[in-house]
Amino acid sequence: MSEKIKIRDLSFVSLFSAEQVQTRVRELGAALTQQHGKNNPLFVSILSGAFVFAADLIRAFDGNCEVGFVKLASYSGTRSTGDVQTIMGLEKDLRGRHIIVVEDIVDTGRTLHFFLDHLRQQQPASLSTVAFLRKPDALEFPVLVEQVGFDIENRFVVGYGLDYDGWGRNLSGIFVLEP
Ligand code: IMP
Ligand code: MG
Repeated sequence: MSEKIKIRDLSFVSLFSAEQVQTRVRELGAALTQQHGKNNPLFVSILSGAFVFAADLIRAFDGNCEVGFVKLASYSGTRSTGDVQTIMGLEKDLRGRHIIVVEDIVDTGRTLHFFLDHLRQQQPASLSTVAFLRKPDALEFPVLVEQVGFDIENRFVVGYGLDYDGWGRNLSGIFVLEP
């Protein structure tokens, strides 16, 4: 039987257990090590949602690396609001660096589309993206994501950094809104 939880007014059921999440993150870390283990990459984590995933992913990465954070926002409640804002930027020189953008979830793709464009202008040596979750049916903006943890249905999820109006980020697994 799948675990059921309540966050404020909404009910969620388990989609991926903490063990499934950790197994997948180790696989993603190993793949990134293969690709960038010797490149001294800079991981750029998009706050707030990706902070939990990024914390595990960098420890599953075997090589020297740096970590930076940016804060972008386009979401309020359970629906996307439209525009993407940079609330906090990177204070690093990206020219010639191998950049790995770490995102919690790709929904419409708006956030990444905007942000990758912005990073590309700073002429990194390479630019790749890893997202823990992706909703292929929700995609509206063209974005290439090299590594994806799980493709999921177009339904609202919380946990592992993802929130419902600020709540649920501390859950170790992923939970999906009950229909
Ligand atoms: P996009 O710009 O439409 O791709 O949305 C990406 C951002 O919206 C993610 O970084 C999340 O913060 C948020 N988001 C999208 N889908 C969900 C969801 O199902 N639960 C929680 N946050 C979500
Ligand atoms: Mg986010």
